[in-house]
Amino acid sequence: MSTSYLETTKDVYKAAAEKPDVGLCCTTTPVWQLPGLDMPVIMQQMNYGCGSTVNPRDLVNNPKILYVGVGGGMELLQFAYFSRQKNGVVGVDVVDEMLAASRRNFDEAEKLNPWFKKEMVDLRKGDALNLPVEDNSIDVAAQNCLFNIFKQDELKKALSEMYRVLKPRGRLVMSDPTCETEMPEALREDERLRALCLSGSLPLKDYIKMITDIGFGTVEIRAKRAYRILDPKNYATDKLIYIESVEVCAIKDPMPADGPCVFTGKTAIYYGSKECLDDNKGHVLFPNQPLAVCDKTAGALANLNRDDIFISPSTFFYDGGGCC
Ligand SMILES: C[S@@+](CC[C@H](N)C(=O)[O-])C[C@H]1O[C@@H](n2cnc3c(N)ncnc32)[C@H](O)[C@@H]1O
Repeated sequence: MSTSYLETTKDVYKAAAEKPDVGLCCTTTPVWQLPGLDMPVIMQQMNYGCGSTVNPRDLVNNPKILYVGVGGGMELLQFAYFSRQKNGVVGVDVVDEMLAASRRNFDEAEKLNPWFKKEMVDLRKGDALNLPVEDNSIDVAAQNCLFNIFKQDELKKALSEMYRVLKPRGRLVMSDPTCETEMPEALREDERLRALCLSGSLPLKDYIKMITDIGFGTVEIRAKRAYRILDPKNYATDKLIYIESVEVCAIKDPMPADGPCVFTGKTAIYYGSKECLDDNKGHVLFPNQPLAVCDKTAGALANLNRDDIFISPSTFFYDGGGCC
């Protein structure tokens, strides 16, 4: 299968490094406002992500962080805010011009933020498909709006590289567009649209399966938002294509014998008359107390066919707690 789109992608981001393109990967996710963090305007203009990968819950105990596809450096600065150690954030990008631009932006960030030192970020030239990073050395690995560009073989390779460098129980945090409508071949094969994060996206289920097939035992869907429309007037499609963006955390937990735990925001509520309901698989439900459950447990509880358990639909808004 042709991989020329990887070269087109480099050209697109070389241009976006040389001249900020504010609308490139527009997101409705607000930029983190944190005490003492002054975000350089140029970093905001070069925000080429489609969500946020920064979550304080992941960032306790001075984690070692890897960020692949640095863009203007905005999220690396946010990660450095939490890690605050020399070389605490490793940034990898394949485009020289993007590395140079982010370096300039970190100079600016150092002037604006007394707590920030450029040495907190270790920028490396490298490819997501062959990371210049040691095995089992990273606590939190992040990428924002890069992996959706990859076709299946490259996506598999990029995910397995992240898995390789993460420590056991380490976290892969990602934000990417997803799409439930089948993307017409002409759009899927349009290298520029793919590079612009508009036509490579997968249905959420397929995206999650790619992650769990690599070996990640737990997956959390933290957010899902409207992202873009591809319409027949402007794109080679005869139907409207609605694209969403998701924020996902995949944890390098051992794979459970009965398959991965995927949390899409389902909750079980027992409303029977007993003191509690114990499914003898580690889940104890107390009357009218919500228990966040993974989709596997939600299915198993539903299969009990009881008339005193309510299972909520997926909220696609989950970041911890509950069963497993
Ligand atoms: C859509 S931008 C996202 C930038 C940044 N994550 C953000 O949220 O602003 C994609 C980034 O990935 C980089 N990139 C493209 N192909 C890459 C590859 N094969 N390996 C590593 N980085 C790559 C680009 O230079 C660019 O910085």
